[in-house]
Amino acid sequence: MRKPIIAGNWKMNKTAAEAVKLVEELKPLVAKAKPEVVVCVPFTDLAVVGEAVKGSKIKLGAQNVAWADKGAFTGEISADMLKELGVEYVIIGHSERRQYFGETDESVNKRVKQALANGLKPIVCVGETKLEREKNKTKRVLKKQITEGLAGVENFENLVVAYEPVWAIGTGLTATKEDANATIGYIRRIVGTTFGKEVAKNLRIQYGGSMNAGNAKDLMSMRNIDGGLIGGASLKAEDFAKVVNYKEN
Ligand code: 13P
Repeated sequence: MRKPIIAGNWKMNKTAAEAVKLVEELKPLVAKAKPEVVVCVPFTDLAVVGEAVKGSKIKLGAQNVAWADKGAFTGEISADMLKELGVEYVIIGHSERRQYFGETDESVNKRVKQALANGLKPIVCVGETKLEREKNKTKRVLKKQITEGLAGVENFENLVVAYEPVWAIGTGLTATKEDANATIGYIRRIVGTTFGKEVAKNLRIQYGGSMNAGNAKDLMSMRNIDGGLIGGASLKAEDFAKVVNYKEN
């Protein structure tokens, strides 16, 4: 059985003061949540949100991690730094990092290995762009992102994959539940042929891209979809709580 996992990706939103307010509003609304609940907040919010979520259902996540232990890597944040603040999950290879900050499957792979080696749980993002989709390249792109991004990984229990079609992020366009389920099924098959059937069966794969209170229940009803990575709808406590509590809606 794969336990559903709903994670908010706040992206570059919320100052520390705003973050505490949001998470305090969220706590009572998700106190009885069935899925695992994670908020992936900006680095500058980690310390205060980490304090605020102690003893609650909410787990702390970051949005990136350096692939080196420490040293001359200006602007990077190490796994040790994250762990000291109580971080459990870390998003790696988000399409915005790939698009704007030169993240590649190779750097994703290094970060994933570094996270796992230091006891952090990576949420590894994959997904095709609109152009790649139109050119029928979706499968090829996903295969490369999975095989190269996860190359050499052994400890899959602590790893989550998020399928986020880039054309669905922040656009209000969601993949249909059938489409998302089929594509995630394809990702599972690639994982199966590359890393083994058992790994594929147990790996949690989220959907992300304009997932919200209105479509979460439908998406989560699909066999291959084990959770959601939520952008815009994670920035308001009520909206995010509705996604987390999708079963009751
Ligand atoms: P939206 O939910 O705003 O489309 O963002 C999805 C996303 O990128 C989560 O990582």
